[in-house]
Amino acid sequence: MLALLTNRMLTILFINMELILPLSFALMFVLISICPTSAHRHPKFSLPKDYRYFPDEKLEVPILTYIVRVKKVDQGDDSLQSNDLHSWYQSLLPASTKTENQQRITFSYRNVMDGFAVKLTPEEAKALQEKEEVVSARPERIFSLHTTHTPSFLGLHQGLGLWNNSNFGKGIIIGILDTGITPGHPSFRDEGMAAPPAKWKGHCEFTGGRTCNNKLIGARNFVKNPNTTLPVDEVGHGTHTASTAAGTHVKGANVFGNAKGTAVGMAPDAHLAMYKVCEPVGCPESAILAGMDTAIHDGVDVLSLSLGGPSFPFFDDPIALGAFSAIQNGIFVSCSAGNSGPFYSSLSNEAPWILTVGASTIDRKILAIAKLGNGIEFIGQSVYQPNNFTSTLLPLVYAGANGNDSSSNFCAPGSLKNVDVKGKVVLCEIGGFVRRVDKGQEVKNAGGAAMILMNSQIEEFNPFADVHVLPVTHVSFAAGLAIQKYINSTSTPTATILFEGTVIGNPHAPAVTSFSSRGPSFASPGILKPDIIGPGQNILAAWPVSLDNNVPSFNIISGTSMSCPHLSGIAALLKNSHPDWSPAAIKSAIVTTANTVNLGRNPILDQRLRPADVFATGAGHVNPLNANDPGLVYDIEPNDYIPYLCGLNYTDKQVGLILNQNVKCSQVKSIPEAQLNYPSFSIRLGSSSQFYTRTLTNVGPANITYSLEIDAPLAVGISIGPAEITFTEVKQKVTYYVGFYPEDKKIRGKNLFSQGSIKWVSTNGRYSVRIPIAVVFL
Ligand SMILES: *[C@@H]1O[C@H](CO)[C@@H](O)[C@H](O)[C@H]1NC(C)=O
Ligand SMILES: *[C@@H]1O[C@H](CO)[C@@H](O)[C@H](O)[C@H]1NC(C)=O
Ligand SMILES: *[C@@H]1O[C@H](CO)[C@@H](O)[C@H](O)[C@H]1NC(C)=O
Ligand SMILES: *[C@@H]1O[C@H](CO)[C@@H](O)[C@H](O)[C@H]1NC(C)=O
Ligand SMILES: *[C@@H]1O[C@H](CO)[C@@H](O)[C@H](O)[C@H]1NC(C)=O
Ligand SMILES: *[C@@H]1O[C@H](CO)[C@@H](O)[C@H](O)[C@H]1NC(C)=O
Ligand SMILES: *[C@@H]1O[C@H](CO)[C@@H](O)[C@H](O)[C@H]1NC(C)=O
Repeated sequence: MLALLTNRMLTILFINMELILPLSFALMFVLISICPTSAHRHPKFSLPKDYRYFPDEKLEVPILTYIVRVKKVDQGDDSLQSNDLHSWYQSLLPASTKTENQQRITFSYRNVMDGFAVKLTPEEAKALQEKEEVVSARPERIFSLHTTHTPSFLGLHQGLGLWNNSNFGKGIIIGILDTGITPGHPSFRDEGMAAPPAKWKGHCEFTGGRTCNNKLIGARNFVKNPNTTLPVDEVGHGTHTASTAAGTHVKGANVFGNAKGTAVGMAPDAHLAMYKVCEPVGCPESAILAGMDTAIHDGVDVLSLSLGGPSFPFFDDPIALGAFSAIQNGIFVSCSAGNSGPFYSSLSNEAPWILTVGASTIDRKILAIAKLGNGIEFIGQSVYQPNNFTSTLLPLVYAGANGNDSSSNFCAPGSLKNVDVKGKVVLCEIGGFVRRVDKGQEVKNAGGAAMILMNSQIEEFNPFADVHVLPVTHVSFAAGLAIQKYINSTSTPTATILFEGTVIGNPHAPAVTSFSSRGPSFASPGILKPDIIGPGQNILAAWPVSLDNNVPSFNIISGTSMSCPHLSGIAALLKNSHPDWSPAAIKSAIVTTANTVNLGRNPILDQRLRPADVFATGAGHVNPLNANDPGLVYDIEPNDYIPYLCGLNYTDKQVGLILNQNVKCSQVKSIPEAQLNYPSFSIRLGSSSQFYTRTLTNVGPANITYSLEIDAPLAVGISIGPAEITFTEVKQKVTYYVGFYPEDKKIRGKNLFSQGSIKWVSTNGRYSVRIPIAVVFL
């Protein structure tokens, strides 16, 4: 089953956000999360067999890129210049690598680890591994890639509140690891922007007419592909994420006339630096490490990674390793949670020093109504909205009805060749490993007039607004079933599609999307993940090429890749308004002020329109205004993670790999995961009680008193002391105690877990500092 998790498949999962996982794959996650004995198993990548992008005719043995870690150089690393480091690494390589006139070392790392990436044959790798200076050498893995309206949806308005107080993120540098960028796109204009701050040491590889400026201050390419020498975005993903985080205002942005408005990123005055580490096939680990290593050196303030792999132990996870070095340098790291939902334990990027961002819907719909011959209408969405489509009812056919192969219901390429769909409206199902837009292309190729695309039971009520090639509406699973039933009920089913354009104000928004990866965390079940959700479905942002002949070009796409840069931009705003806050303090401010209700003031729902649980929402939906003034924070210093990592039962060597220094866990008082001063609790409760502390830091006014509000999870007793806390100084720290007590098992019923919260509310009514609690019953 593990072999299913191929590079290609993961790429598809993260970029296209469209494919339903086979059920067996889904079950794998569920089983792993439930079965405690499998705690050390985790999904592994298969090796990238065909991943050989260097022209190497002479070499016939398989050659792969290895990540090599070496023992720390003791005599003060700062004295070792890059060139010395490189020569030293070079000197470690086996003799066979030196006979050829070629560069085998692809990257030397300085910040994320002591080590380098090198192209080796298996024999050479074995020889290298035997060197005393070498800690480990293993082949790299390939990771996968995981708006006009979102600022105002998130309460960001010109001249008001957070945008006003944070100067739109002025002076903050957001580093993005992605597929590259499109310099010259109006979203990256720099009118009115100051030069980058003096600390900036980055570099721009673009030259000529389309180069960097005071908005896009750096652009580097780490993809070792002879066809890719510049950090140009050939995919679109990086241009989209960069403009979501910090694109400048572009008036009249739209796609096919829809979602029209001023496109702007979350931190429109922040600087951007692009580190190209991905190409269409995925993101090589050596390039991800090189991108993070360079970004830390360059002096970015925020790192944004809309990419990831499956769960790895943190010492074996390049993003966790790079992110730890980043937070040691005060850099905030925001990552996508993954698009493997709605299954439990399907997360990427689980380390507690990372902000893990799930995806929610926004209150904008681009409406396309499926109207049936019996008069019944179903609401759906589509970005392509032709104004010349007939409102006359056309014959309606279910693609799976007469097809001669099992893929025709999915409208897979070629599957409608012999189905009579000419001039008809065709009902197709989502899934079958076919991109949604390609289904429309198949209907069009077969002569169909329009397509109604129905969700599967997994996505239920979360239709996507896509840029289709013919008139389409994408409807819910329930609507699809009703349409199938109507087709069955009559010999002459008919339908048409009515295009109604952009509508804002859906009271069910934000809702968790079906694809957003869910907790519990696999690598560290005692830390609640995801941390937060943010806008990730049907997001408009900059795109390298025009899809509709409109210029400037924008596109609407979906994924946790889209929600992550929203939070990266918000972190940049908070960095500007609170330059003294640590990355953990910024995370705490975002988490403790999150919304738990939707626009309709009801609990946040999921794709089934049922209340979303804590493993889907984390603390809830980001509320940037409140995050700017949280009152209290739960702070963590980088060294506080040492007792936590020792408590995960990692070996000294494994902890050392994360910290880039020697650690002896026997000399550290290790702590259970739940004792880390994290702004949430994730408890695995057996028959005995558990006791923890949390420490609050006052970042509000000096003299203020807070009292306690507890929402106890079902079948769990909670005791907290003291019940009231008075602060008399700014930055004052106060510790409180929390006990969790299992109650009678009968009360649990069939529930495998329950959830609640601890809230500190200031007596003046100004602050409400809430952390969520998840309790998994053992
Ligand atoms: C480079 O481009 C050429 C021509 O487009 C193509 O045939 C080749 O496969 C590309 N190589 C890689 C590694 O993408
Ligand atoms: C915006 O910020 C300025 C100065 O920082 C302040 O004087 C003004 O009151 C703020 N406006 C609002 C509406 O918050
Ligand atoms: C509608 O307009 C599009 C674009 O101009 C054209 O390709 C298409 O054939 C037209 N369809 C009908 C039914 O007229
Ligand atoms: C079934 O579909 C295949 C292509 O998918 C086609 O070659 C074949 O002729 C079809 N058979 C019938 C009976 O329609
Ligand atoms: C429609 O009819 C087909 C074939 O009889 C059947 O398999 C399917 O379940 C029916 N669908 C609904 C929604 O009733
Ligand atoms: C670490 O080992 C101790 C002792 O065996 C055990 O109680 C604890 O649950 C382990 N922690 C984790 C995170 O596995
Ligand atoms: C806070 O309260 C204390 C004692 O009541 C007082 O001495 C102090 O001046 C107050 N500080 C501020 C900033 O109001």
